Amino acid sequence: MKPIPFEAGWRSPSNIAFVKYWGKKGHQLPANPSLSMTLKECVSETFVTFAPADSLKVELFLEGNKEEKFASKIQKYIETLTDFPELKNVHYTIKTKNTFPHGTGIASSASGLSAFALCLTDYLYAMNPGKNFFQDASSFSRLASGSACRSVYGGFTTWGDESDLYASPFEVHAEMAHLKDSVLVISGEEKKVSSTAGHGRMTSHPFAEARYAQAKINFKLMASALKSGDIETMGKILESEALTLHSMFMTSPEAYTLLRPNTIAAIDMIWNFRQETKLPLYFTLDAGPNLHLIYPESAQNKIKTFISHELTPFTERIIEDERGEGPQKC
Ligand code: DP6
Repeated sequence: MKPIPFEAGWRSPSNIAFVKYWGKKGHQLPANPSLSMTLKECVSETFVTFAPADSLKVELFLEGNKEEKFASKIQKYIETLTDFPELKNVHYTIKTKNTFPHGTGIASSASGLSAFALCLTDYLYAMNPGKNFFQDASSFSRLASGSACRSVYGGFTTWGDESDLYASPFEVHAEMAHLKDSVLVISGEEKKVSSTAGHGRMTSHPFAEARYAQAKINFKLMASALKSGDIETMGKILESEALTLHSMFMTSPEAYTLLRPNTIAAIDMIWNFRQETKLPLYFTLDAGPNLHLIYPESAQNKIKTFISHELTPFTERIIEDERGEGPQKC
């Protein structure tokens, strides 16, 4: 099919994994199932102009500034989509911005790449409509960045359970429907080891198989805790997943750590607070030093006071987020 002139725009959120995707097989397929909560405030807004051309060309502007590095990443990604020749002879102009501040160490790949994949799916559907827009958008997102495939739905999503190719929405108990996520930005510095490089280190990791087996068990426990509204089990698995992920970094043959002294200090404070107050405040970590504090809306008053009085000194800033409704066309 011949390329057509087209414009698309999507706002797409980031997500935080409760059970982590860490390790790949085949072409961008997960070594274990993962489960995440889609966020509300950490969002990328992306507009793409598709212009028929003699060859593939990508220009990308992030907050108005031309970005060669991201443009070449997107170009390489489009080149891998060989089943879609209509993507080839196109000049892409991508204008994107994030609602969360740049350089805070908050992953923008899930939101940014899902927003782009949604635009791409819009374009392909304009020429040849398919049956399941979001499933296809999730597949395209996955091929750009694994965790991005879970951002195309609101609420909670799974990936690697129903399918390895795309994420699926996951219904939870009413208690879990309004979880908060206060993101403690411990350091906004760029990571020493990217997630993609980190996944690669799992292939020679002595504990890889044990980790995949544990993740499968944790996935089942987490899914059932979210369905039944069992916040204690949810929190226990959430923290175990975060600490296991970082243990994998530290015990890989080429060892590294992304934790900072203030990450550990804040974790200690959270554990003490929970022991003293019995309030349901739990943490998780992405591949970085920043803590996502997860708690139900019903307990937010005391927890927010604790966060702002006791944890602020360990942070560069705090981003208040919560469970969101998923992407929107714009
Ligand atoms: C620790 O999705 O960033 O955030 O597929 O190589 O782009 P690529 O990796 P990426 O890995 C995310 C890993 C994680 C856990 C998670 O989100 O499940």
